[in-house]
Order: sequence, then C-alpha cells, then structure tokens
Amino acid sequence: MSKPVLLVTRKLPDQIEDLAAERFDARLNSQDEPWFRDGSEIARRASECGAAGILCAAGDPLNGTAIGALPASVKAIATFSVGYDHIDVKAARERGITVANTPEVLSFATAETAMTLMLMAARRAGEGERMVRAGKWEGWAPTQLMGVTLEGKKLGILGMGRIGRELAQMARGFRMEIHYRDINRLPAELEQGAIYHDSDDAFLAAIDVISMHVPGGDATRKWLNAERLSKMKRGALVVNSGRGGSVDDAALVEALKTGQIRGAGLDVYDGEPKIFEGYMGLENVALLPHLGSATVETRDAMGRRALENLEAVLIKNSPAPHEVR
Ligand code: DGY
Repeated sequence: MSKPVLLVTRKLPDQIEDLAAERFDARLNSQDEPWFRDGSEIARRASECGAAGILCAAGDPLNGTAIGALPASVKAIATFSVGYDHIDVKAARERGITVANTPEVLSFATAETAMTLMLMAARRAGEGERMVRAGKWEGWAPTQLMGVTLEGKKLGILGMGRIGRELAQMARGFRMEIHYRDINRLPAELEQGAIYHDSDDAFLAAIDVISMHVPGGDATRKWLNAERLSKMKRGALVVNSGRGGSVDDAALVEALKTGQIRGAGLDVYDGEPKIFEGYMGLENVALLPHLGSATVETRDAMGRRALENLEAVLIKNSPAPHEVR
C-alpha cells in the first residue's frame, strides 16, 4: 500500500525527518530557512504533491483563505507547536480537516524560558552581557547594575494552564509567592497553593511580576494595555513567553521608559519576526527570539507527537490523540 503524502513546511530535527520519511511519503523542507511565509504557498505546494497531511509550525499562516485553497486530498494538519492561533481551525473543520497540536511535551521548556526572562529582567542580565561584549566593563563596583531579587516577590501568572503550572512550581524554588488569574478558578489539586484572583484589578494590584501564558487571538489581543499596566505596582516586571499579540507594545514601551515597569523579558512578538521598534533602544527589556520550546529534548518530543497525530488520522484511520477542537 502506498504511503500517504505528507508536506512538511519547515526543516525539522534530523531524526524527526527520518521518522517522517519512514512512515509517510514525506516531502521534506530541507532548507534551514523557513520558506513558507505565505499560506497560499503552502496550499500551492500541497496541491502540487497531492498532500494528505501537512506538518506545519507556529507562524505558518494557515488562515481561512489558505485553508480554502488546500486541495481536497488534505485530511489532517499537525502543527509542530502547542499554539494554533496561526490556523483557522473552524475553516479546517468545515472542510473535514483534522487539526492537531503538541501539548504537554513543551510545558517545562517554555516555563524555563519564562523563568530565564524573569531573571534577565530582574537582574539586568542582558544589560550586563552587552556591557561586557562592548568592552565597557571596568570591574566590580558596589552600585553597578543593581537589579532586584525575586525572593519574596509575588509572581502573577496570567493563564494557569500546563505551562503556567510548571512555572508556579519553578518559581517556588525562588521563594516567590504565586498568584494567578484565569477565566475560571482551577480545582484545588491543580492550584498548588497559588492564590486565585477573580478580578483583573485585584490581580494586577497584588503582584510584583506578571508572566503571560495566554493563547493568541482576539480574546487576548492587547490584554496588557496602558490601563492595566497603570494598575500594577510601580517598578513591577513583565514577562511574555505566550503570544506577542497579548501585549500592547506601545503601552509597554512607554511604561518601561517612565519606570512604571522596571524591566521586561519578551520571547514572543506581535507580527514576529518583526519587533516593535520602540523596544530596540531600551536597555531594560530582554528580547529573545521565540526560544520557548527550543531544547533538543523538547523539539524531539514535539516532532514525535506531531507525527503520532498524523499517523492516527492518515494511517490508522482514528482520531488524532491531540486534536484541537
Ligand atoms: C508553541 O508551541 O506554540 C510555541 O510558541 C512554539 O514553540
């Protein structure tokens, strides 16, 4: 029996490409540079090869128009990411296409990235690194690059999903007090002693650091705006490793300039890889290139999970274990 044709939009870790080629008639993207910036290009290539499945990644723009242009042969789209705001899931469902993602396996790595950003923002690590590399460091000095400690600070987690809960556990190791805000209160066994707030105002007023873990999309668009930033304590820290669109960049830049926000750490950006120009000249913001899940171990697990999803639908004729609904 012939193997289903699988269109892979990005270069994947070698062992994942080998697995894909074992199980599917895989049309791999062997380029190191992403080459599908445009959903219509994905649709064109899917038609060209008669793809049954598409293995895409965060940021591949499969909007309604691109989904509408896919050939009828496509039955499943698996994204190499937990986030799926780049895919119009409703449009896919209407065409009978299963959409699946890679939850769980990247929670720890992404929480590690949030912790890294929190430490960079609190301890001015980016500024220090730039000073050393620029040859401007003249030796230890009692008042040089003083940051703030995380010990005893109140961490506010916005979006207490799997990643938020991993971060809560890690931050406890730094002796932080954990607060959270979510659409609903979690069952006690998942709360792990974190303090729930049932209003944004109470949450923002209570915390010293906010770490954002909400999905992208209209519901969270520019959630952290000028008004909410003004409700935080003066000198608070902001961390975002979720989706860039949930922060109002102009408002955050202004708050970083006035000192309302002492420092920020960002891994994700609205319209990335474009970065809001206002961040570039600021010393008190750490900017990472969407590294959230970028560990060897995690990317391997994500690849395996994406292939399991595709195998279920295209080979075993069963539901994808991580179907997005
Ligand atoms: C995801 O999985 O959604 C990340 O943002 C990409 O690693």
